Amino acid sequence: MKKILITGGNGLVGRYLNNILHNRKDYQVFSFGKEEFEITDKDNSFKIFKGIKPDIVIHLAALTDVDYCERNPLDAYKVNSEGTKNISEISYNFNSFIIYLSTDFVFDGEKKTPYTEKDNPNPINIYGKSKLKGEEFVKKCSKHLIIRTSRIYGRDGKSFGSKLPQILKEKKEIYLIQDIINCPTYAFDLVDSIIKLIEKEIYGIINVCNDGWCSWYEFGAKMKEILKLNIEIKGINFDEFSKIFNISAKRPKFSSLSIDLLSSLNIKMRRWEEGLINFLNEII
Ligand SMILES: NC(=O)c1ccc[n+]([C@@H]2O[C@H](COP(=O)([O-])OP(=O)(O)OC[C@H]3O[C@@H](n4cnc5c(N)ncnc54)[C@H](OP(=O)(O)O)[C@@H]3O)[C@@H](O)[C@H]2O)c1
Repeated sequence: MKKILITGGNGLVGRYLNNILHNRKDYQVFSFGKEEFEITDKDNSFKIFKGIKPDIVIHLAALTDVDYCERNPLDAYKVNSEGTKNISEISYNFNSFIIYLSTDFVFDGEKKTPYTEKDNPNPINIYGKSKLKGEEFVKKCSKHLIIRTSRIYGRDGKSFGSKLPQILKEKKEIYLIQDIINCPTYAFDLVDSIIKLIEKEIYGIINVCNDGWCSWYEFGAKMKEILKLNIEIKGINFDEFSKIFNISAKRPKFSSLSIDLLSSLNIKMRRWEEGLINFLNEII
């Protein structure tokens, strides 16, 4: 039976991962929240690894609030970069296969077609920079997989996409950004692919997200249609939105991820609209 250690296990992806792995008899799962496993504390991290000697490490712990990271760069680098350095170095010591969740925000968003695994990163905000530094540490492990994903949403998540159904139900009118495009990804679908990639022992870098791309405006409009709501949704450009709401971090304009490599491994991702329908069914 393989031993899997999960950092950031109480977060959105961690909870979905735990739910799926819970039913699997071939894995022994050790999942930790921040209180038990603070990744910036290297000595304690090492002790936890020593007690488990994991075959596989799924490193999810991160500061994921992009605007918080922009306002608090020291915190962002401490957790997303230095914390990941700790987990990578210890994974290397224990010869564990490390899986790191990275982001489409490592790109600047200036490309006009979806980013492939071969494109050069050039992050434009602190979150993206701190996660990219994390990637560099993970790459030093002999057995590593960097999974770049995008705009994750799911049940009880704190991400905007996770909360949007409730927001749309409560409001009469809302402005949603129309000129920032990427790939909304249902946490359930992401986690399903993560497990398949682990089982296929894929190493390196790979993009995983639902198929297709859209803006928040299109995402919200689809949600409104599925839920048959009466809210009025108005499109707004990011520049205007960020001035009104005092948003600190820049976003890449078009950071869709190509999933051709994933498809070539016979791992199919459904369209984002289908993922969204499943999410809405899950929370109703
Ligand atoms: N959410 C997205 O749209 C998105 C997109 C691309 C990539 N990713 C990546 O996917 C991974 C999982 O994201 P998620 O959506 O599950 O985010 P999440 O819900 O914010 O989960 C992250 C977890 O990490 C924990 N954490 C924060 N600082 C920590 C520390 N110093 N030590 C240990 N744990 C710590 C958080 O605990 P607290 O909540 O108690 O702080 C939280 O439970 C992250 O690495 C993220 O960068 C996310």
